[in-house]
Amino acid sequence: MEKIVSLAKRRGFVYQGSEIYGGLAGTWDYGPLGVALKKNIENLWWKRFVLDREDMYGIDAALLMNPNVWKASGHVDGFADPLVEDVKTHRRYRADHLLEEAGVDPKGMTAAQMDQTLKEKGIRSPDGNTLGDVKQFNMMFKTSIGASGDESSISYLRPETAQGMFVNFKNVMDTFHPKLPFGMAQIGKAFRNEIAPRDFIFRVRELEQMEIEYFVRPEDWRKHFDYFLNEQKDYLTKDLGLPEQYIHSVEVPAVDRAHYSKHSVDTEFDFPFGQKELLGLAYRTDFDLGAHAKASGVDLSYYDEETKERFTPHCIEPTFGVGRLFLAILSGAYAEDEKNGEVRTFLKFSSNVAPVKAAVFPLLKNKPELVAKAREVYVDLKVQIPQLMWDDNGNIGKRYRRQDEIGTPYCITIDFDTLGESGDEKKDTVTVRERDTGEQTRLPISELAKKVNGS
Ligand code: GLY
Repeated sequence: MEKIVSLAKRRGFVYQGSEIYGGLAGTWDYGPLGVALKKNIENLWWKRFVLDREDMYGIDAALLMNPNVWKASGHVDGFADPLVEDVKTHRRYRADHLLEEAGVDPKGMTAAQMDQTLKEKGIRSPDGNTLGDVKQFNMMFKTSIGASGDESSISYLRPETAQGMFVNFKNVMDTFHPKLPFGMAQIGKAFRNEIAPRDFIFRVRELEQMEIEYFVRPEDWRKHFDYFLNEQKDYLTKDLGLPEQYIHSVEVPAVDRAHYSKHSVDTEFDFPFGQKELLGLAYRTDFDLGAHAKASGVDLSYYDEETKERFTPHCIEPTFGVGRLFLAILSGAYAEDEKNGEVRTFLKFSSNVAPVKAAVFPLLKNKPELVAKAREVYVDLKVQIPQLMWDDNGNIGKRYRRQDEIGTPYCITIDFDTLGESGDEKKDTVTVRERDTGEQTRLPISELAKKVNGS
């Protein structure tokens, strides 16, 4: 894991948030290559789940919402993690994490059961001190809207993007008149005041979610649930190229389910720090639409013209965390090999997600004729491959190592043969080096786009 964090910083994928001020726990900033990878993850998701379908409606709701949304949704009362305090230092910990570290599986335990187990086993804080009682800690960030600063001004940074879709259900129904089943999709920020942010970008206080609320007839929920479980897996393996053997579906026990869910299956991934949750899928029933209809007084039911029935649709929710997908891709791709006693680090990104699809260089940077030809190749190719990089820093060996470390599938070198100086048969051909094997082949410039784009 340390090697991955160090590479992520060294190569401009992820930096510590507010680093020059000593950082801010649970926040991370994405650098130029990180943004490129993140956008690939998001664009592939948007393509599969929105653009390629006729039954999905994209939205982009405000981060700040009327506080009544969070009362009705159950988050004010129920969005909490089990917190326990070191009685001496007053440092605070997640009770379930302390149990895990002591070799006890906290899955399925209530806060009271965690409290009892911590006490029975005499588990202490990491500083060796006694622990207080386990309490439920609400994870929503409070904020104050407007200038008055009194109780009535309190709202929350959204802890999930989902509610932005439930409160817009009627708007989408009224403007597009979709028939069931149909879904709403959104990509955006969410905030959680995690007691103990950890494991790099895995457990953070500010995160990016990609969520779908898919509305169905109540009796059809299982069919759609199973369908989306499969779609989630296809997105991971076919779109993002994650290795299938690292992916596991785990049914969530009732006590660990979110307050709105009647059935949940997590997709877990083998991260360097263990098998942990990567994605969620929940059957939210009519919990949210029902709660908002009751609290707002606005009718959020659906009228089925064929069966002449009026009812509140049920909801299947596939939810994805961009940061966790990013970490899964990064850790799944990390590789080292050895040649002539030298260790090489490289990222085996699938070309779908690679932030740079190919790099173009002149063999030597002090030969103007080579640089001019390489620039010409680069400029022409960039029209067809926007995620193309120009690199003329250092010698060719250093460039290969740098491109390997950022997971660039192909390096394209323009040399004297390209200019036709050693006979015409190699004129306008270049060397293409493949990242994983290091193999080099000679290709005409006209075939480069096809080679890099894989078609
Ligand atoms: N909307 C589900 C979640 O945020 O976990």
